[in-house]
Amino acid sequence: MKKRVKVKKKASSARRLGRMKTKAKTRDRKAVSRATRARKKTKKKRTSPSRPGGAFQVSAYLEAKRKLVDAALEEALPRKDYFPAKLHSAIRHSVFSGGKRLRPVLLLAAAEACGGKKSNIMPAACALECIHTYSLLHDDLPAMDDDAWRRGQPTCHKVFGEAAAILAGDALLTFAFELMSKCAAPAKGTPAAAAVLDAIRVLAQSAGMAGMVGGQMADVDAEGQDVNIPMLQYIHTHKTGRIIQGALRIGGILAGATSEQLKALSLYGEAAGLAFQIADDILNIVGKMPQLGKEVGTDAALGKATYPAVYGLEESKKQALSLTEKAVRALKPFGKKAEPLQALAYYIVEREV
Ligand code: IPE
Ligand code: IPE
Ligand code: MG
Ligand code: MG
Repeated sequence: MKKRVKVKKKASSARRLGRMKTKAKTRDRKAVSRATRARKKTKKKRTSPSRPGGAFQVSAYLEAKRKLVDAALEEALPRKDYFPAKLHSAIRHSVFSGGKRLRPVLLLAAAEACGGKKSNIMPAACALECIHTYSLLHDDLPAMDDDAWRRGQPTCHKVFGEAAAILAGDALLTFAFELMSKCAAPAKGTPAAAAVLDAIRVLAQSAGMAGMVGGQMADVDAEGQDVNIPMLQYIHTHKTGRIIQGALRIGGILAGATSEQLKALSLYGEAAGLAFQIADDILNIVGKMPQLGKEVGTDAALGKATYPAVYGLEESKKQALSLTEKAVRALKPFGKKAEPLQALAYYIVEREV
């Protein structure tokens, strides 16, 4: 018999969210900069030599790649005073507010694991971040999770209004495909046009109805409902897992991966992507707003279908770790070249932001 679990709302979500909104309104700009400072301070140098990738300086790697991605996004996106300024201000508010850039970093690390010889992969890394940021913009809207804080800043719709937040999301989604097409520059050492087409198809599938959008629909629909384990898994692997898996596959495809390498990256992405969302669910309970840059306790308030709600905290942590180990095992064909990916898999479940 399928296990069915009722995800109870802790209190009337409207009441709890109402209280949260009132609290959020009373926080001023000082609180925002305090939160941003605290998020920056939590970047720890951590190594654990006894496990795969354990000696790798993952924080330094993330930081170095994040800077490259930020610089490329800065260059690619129009200035905030470009007409219509409200749209571009809303886009920049959301993109440049302190995201970890994990999906672009995974894409770049996957390309490195496959040899890292192709240039011109950065537009694809930026495309992943544009799609991720659009998904956050829409996820925070009142019609979805109705969140007031994101990346240590008031959410886009709180600052610019719902229309601008919806349109900024739409713009980022379409811009992502424009960026993808730029990977196919007619120059030596850039990805082959056929590989770029393949990568574009993977991105569309990961973000669209067979991926993130499908997962988001099921997530919203499951609020306060009975969920069985297959439904919980569908939600998590689709709303979050598919784009993370897509990042790995796109990095591999653009770098000219062999089919064995692509299969390995795909398996890694599937396991690490699910682990990522389980960790997000756990942080929504045990995390702290100043580090996370978003409200905690919101999943329970909305009666969301989460791993801790279904399995409890401890079992969720165990499952996240076991998925991490599965992800790391999949990297065998890459040998030492997979060190960053190994370390990133552990980072995904051990992070505090
Ligand atoms: C949060 O993603 C939303 C989920 C898909 C779970 P991240 O934790 O990667 O958010 P940022 O990009 O660092 O803000
Ligand atoms: C967000 O999932 C998934 C997407 C944006 C696609 P959540 O709703 O659980 O993530 P947070 O907690 O708002 O970041
Ligand atoms: Mg959501
Ligand atoms: Mg949300």
